[in-house]
Amino acid sequence: MYKNSTNQLLKPVTAKVNDSGNLEIGGCDTVELVEKYGSPLYVMDEVTLRNVCRDYKDAFSKYPKVNMMFASKALSTMAISSILISEGFGFDVVSAGEIYTVYKAGADMNKVLFNGNNKSFDELSLAIELGVGRISVDNFFELSLLNEIAKSHNKTVDILLRITPGIECHTHEYIQTGHLDSKFGFDLTQIDEAVELILSEYTNLKLHGLHAHIGSQIFETKVYHDEIEILVREIKRLDDKFALKLDEINIGGGLGVKYTEKDVPPSAFEIADVILESLNSAIAKYEIEAPALFIEPGRSIVSTAGVTLYTIGSSKQVPKGKKYIAVDGGMADNPRPSMYQAEYSAVIANKPEQNPDTKVTVAGRFCESGDILISDILLPEPDEGDILCVFNTGAYNYSMASNYNRVQKCAMVLVNNSQSDIIINRETLDDIISHDVIPDRLKIK
Ligand code: LLP
Repeated sequence: MYKNSTNQLLKPVTAKVNDSGNLEIGGCDTVELVEKYGSPLYVMDEVTLRNVCRDYKDAFSKYPKVNMMFASKALSTMAISSILISEGFGFDVVSAGEIYTVYKAGADMNKVLFNGNNKSFDELSLAIELGVGRISVDNFFELSLLNEIAKSHNKTVDILLRITPGIECHTHEYIQTGHLDSKFGFDLTQIDEAVELILSEYTNLKLHGLHAHIGSQIFETKVYHDEIEILVREIKRLDDKFALKLDEINIGGGLGVKYTEKDVPPSAFEIADVILESLNSAIAKYEIEAPALFIEPGRSIVSTAGVTLYTIGSSKQVPKGKKYIAVDGGMADNPRPSMYQAEYSAVIANKPEQNPDTKVTVAGRFCESGDILISDILLPEPDEGDILCVFNTGAYNYSMASNYNRVQKCAMVLVNNSQSDIIINRETLDDIISHDVIPDRLKIK
């Protein structure tokens, strides 16, 4: 049996019912948080976030050369980045915006790795100017573009090659990335040509190793074993063929979380054991020196720490149909249910202990029939004004949020030790129009 880890929990570790009978997180009454900061509201629990980071560090401590890179795409904000920096994490970033966020938060840029299948000239230039430590090159076009930019900066850029290992994992098709017919990375049959080009023409690039990512919300551990076998096999093959000494492998992210009771994600300790055992046995089998290992977890780092608080407004009972309750957010603050049929769990924060005897469907407020946050959930009889707390919204909610219907994006607060701090301001109506321009000739005089 493996030690449990925080990613296996449905709720933040500090979630409890307080003396007022309300749900409390990080020592803060969630109903009071809504009174103070408005609704909907993203809440991040610092203790849960730090616990996950420590689980990961503890779980991988047996391997001396591990680089923990938080996948910023799951939640990129300056305050969250500061916490990860203080926990010793580096970052996997995929855009100028994510690079700039961690840079401004004070990251050691050498511990930042730039990923993506279509990085632009400007983004690659920024990465070089800010001293991003590794660039994971995705395709032939990028090899040539990056070499040109590196040359013009008179620099040698440290790279990995992103490869497609051809592994199918059982997750939603849209978040599966390591299978053969994928838009990401070099096919296994193209790696040699890429290496030949790096060694002959692209002399401003220095290749350190290989990178793959097989998917997200992964519950099986065997896929990591298969991935590592392929990465180490390829490293050995390239070392032999090109007289290289590649010494880095990056296995991406992917560990799953518990959105509903029926999800049983593996513990970070189990994942680490599978990864390290597979790595050690592949090292022995292929007789290579132990490479530095990069891992890039995103979802499992931030998901459990996050909840979203909504206020319940209208409700309706469809004759002979469902009972709907509508909240003041939905697909713009959490597009995952409408994009991936993702499921979530929730409680009513001002009556968490009442009997959940009413089956309802939680509808969002956006103009789209598909804007349903949770179908058929059992809650205590909901009333207008109740606060609904949806769990496990820390990952890929704010980071995928939009202004659909011109609704302002929500605020985010960080809670810890009975203190709450704003880490993202709620957008204002002026923010909504702040990028609009009316050409003079259209101005209403
Ligand atoms: N590394 C690479 C190269 C990635 O593409 C990803 C995620 C990660 C790391 C982090 O994976 P994680 O540990 O978070 O599973 N928007 C989708 C998830 C897309 C994931 C894309 N890549 C969702 O909401 O489920």
